[in-house]
Amino acid sequence: MSDPDVELEARLAEQDSFEPPADFVEQANVSDPGIYEEFDDNWPDCWTRAADLLDWATEYTEVLDDSNPPFYEWFADGELNASANCLDRHLDDRGDEAAIEWVGEPTDEANRTYTYAELHREVNEFAAALRDLGVEEDDVVTMYMPMIPELPVAMLACARIGAPHSVVFAGFSADALATRMNAADSEYLVTCDGYYRRGDPLDHLDKANEGLAGVDHGTDTVVVDRLPNSDSFGHDRTDSQHSYADLVADHEGATVKPVARNAEDMLFLMYTSGTTGEPKGVKHTTGGYLSWASWTSHAVLDIKPEDTYFCAADIGWITGHSYIVYGPLALGTTTMMYEGTRDYPDRNRLWEIIEAYEANQLYTAPTAIRAFMKWGEEYPADHDLSSLRLLGTVGEPINPRAWKWYYKHIGDESCPIVDTWWQTETGGMMVTTLPGVGEMKPGSAGPPLPGVSADVVDVSGSPVGAGDAGYLVANKPWPGMLRTLYRNDERFIDEYWREYSQVDSDDSADWVYFPEDGAKLDEDGYITVLGRVDDVLNVSGHRLGTMELESAIVGVEGVAEAAVVGGDHEIKGEAVYAYVITEEGYEETEGLRDRIIEGVEDAIGPIARPEAVIFTPELPKTRSGKIMRRLLEDIANGDDLGDTSTLRNPDVVTDIQSRAGGD
Ligand code: WTA
Repeated sequence: MSDPDVELEARLAEQDSFEPPADFVEQANVSDPGIYEEFDDNWPDCWTRAADLLDWATEYTEVLDDSNPPFYEWFADGELNASANCLDRHLDDRGDEAAIEWVGEPTDEANRTYTYAELHREVNEFAAALRDLGVEEDDVVTMYMPMIPELPVAMLACARIGAPHSVVFAGFSADALATRMNAADSEYLVTCDGYYRRGDPLDHLDKANEGLAGVDHGTDTVVVDRLPNSDSFGHDRTDSQHSYADLVADHEGATVKPVARNAEDMLFLMYTSGTTGEPKGVKHTTGGYLSWASWTSHAVLDIKPEDTYFCAADIGWITGHSYIVYGPLALGTTTMMYEGTRDYPDRNRLWEIIEAYEANQLYTAPTAIRAFMKWGEEYPADHDLSSLRLLGTVGEPINPRAWKWYYKHIGDESCPIVDTWWQTETGGMMVTTLPGVGEMKPGSAGPPLPGVSADVVDVSGSPVGAGDAGYLVANKPWPGMLRTLYRNDERFIDEYWREYSQVDSDDSADWVYFPEDGAKLDEDGYITVLGRVDDVLNVSGHRLGTMELESAIVGVEGVAEAAVVGGDHEIKGEAVYAYVITEEGYEETEGLRDRIIEGVEDAIGPIARPEAVIFTPELPKTRSGKIMRRLLEDIANGDDLGDTSTLRNPDVVTDIQSRAGGD
């Protein structure tokens, strides 16, 4: 490094706050600091600002209906269609402009551009095809697809005919697909033959078929042929398996009138991990969710129609729903999709894409940033990244060092960074700085967005002072919030509202939403999110329930008991550590260890692969028989164990430590 670089590093290392760059502020969609007060004074009507970004088929007359909390309703008597908002209304001005720029993983294959007119046409054709297959309004259509353009086409086609979609991440296992299709009674699946991973074609249909075998009702399946030769893997296709290309060709030129949906009608379901083994079906609505995704894309990502915007997430997660598909397309911009991994064919790939497409925003996860940092600054330095105007991160806490690396080596100190805290359940961003307004503090997400009321409280629900750690809560509802857990109102209340809502004797309550994250507040009201406080791990920004992991492991022959905890990981943030007790008569062998790893991959997917499987004769338990997870975490991290006197079996600790490679 040259001397000025060393000086710069040293300066950045010490700096703990950064003003938004003046050039950025000048052109920002939101730059008036008065917006916080304005939204507070005018709550909940301030949310017309979000709803007004959309076209409504029937105008709403009421912003918030809070007559039956926590089942809040937003813009409830309005009607709209999400696909019309993402497509039809842009045709006049943006018909010939790119809606989606798709980059496939192989470098010798042509990339694909969908203009708004082309995307509109294919969505209409596929919507007509879905109808012909029998899909009716409110039927749940499952998608099990990687990052190919037919995924957003299918989502928007469903939205057009009022059929909620449920997208299952392509990296999830066959079992995970079956569980989700069964839970939603979903009779339709859109999937594909395969896709590329690190240069090799991967058989996806095999996994989909295996999943379908576990679905307890009949299904129609649509298969996109993404690989060059159809039937690349030679699967026999049955009568209930239809070719996407044939369906679209059969409906060439068809138009489908967008169905006017009530604002509160379900737009989609998204399953996410919770404390129990059973994934939660988070329900999002048409009006509130779409307003939220659009407003936050506008105010936080600063998206303008003429931008080329790049979110490097996967559409199989909520980030891709809100910030690859719905938010950007509702605003009429060009959204990018990249199929592959970030280091294929080499570590320049992402920077090549940004340079070639002159992307204006990059929104990614701290895990990715930490990997880039580890690879070295020479990769981005070799590319012209000057088109970038804004950087964003999401999914996990970002450490100040990674933040500063991102700021300097990707943003060239001229792009604001938005560290956006939110969840599947919130629909979109909740806590972050406004890039054209707020000072940035590396490591701290920022204040709640205007109109969002968030606080950090102690166990009794009282606000903690500045500097103290506590639990993050939201005190007021917001349009993008989940409405319930699919067919499980009770679990919805139990999981998110029971903990901190103060129910009075007359049964009225101050309803408080608890996202199950720990946080800290500073003297400026900035929130630093510390991580989950429930039994959910955050591995590379992906949520995994310890119960799901444990039940997968216990399902392996020879395993008697298992406890899973998260251990610190340099790149992934957290990694899966599994402590396993074998059954009588089974040896603690490498073979069993491999079968456990395989068992987890089969039940959930490769993202859940344990970093370490540690055999142990016993688990540390309290006198009341509860597993001391904190202790297992400390062992995984090689930390000092503190007080172990409350254990029923303190001797086991040294034994586990030696097996885990500690001292
Ligand atoms: C964590 C992803 C710190 C948090 C959009 C949350 C974060 C969970 C941040 C939701 C952030 C998300 N800083 N932690 N900026 N963003 N998280 O549902 O623990 O996949 O509860 O949604 O990720 O994960 P989910």
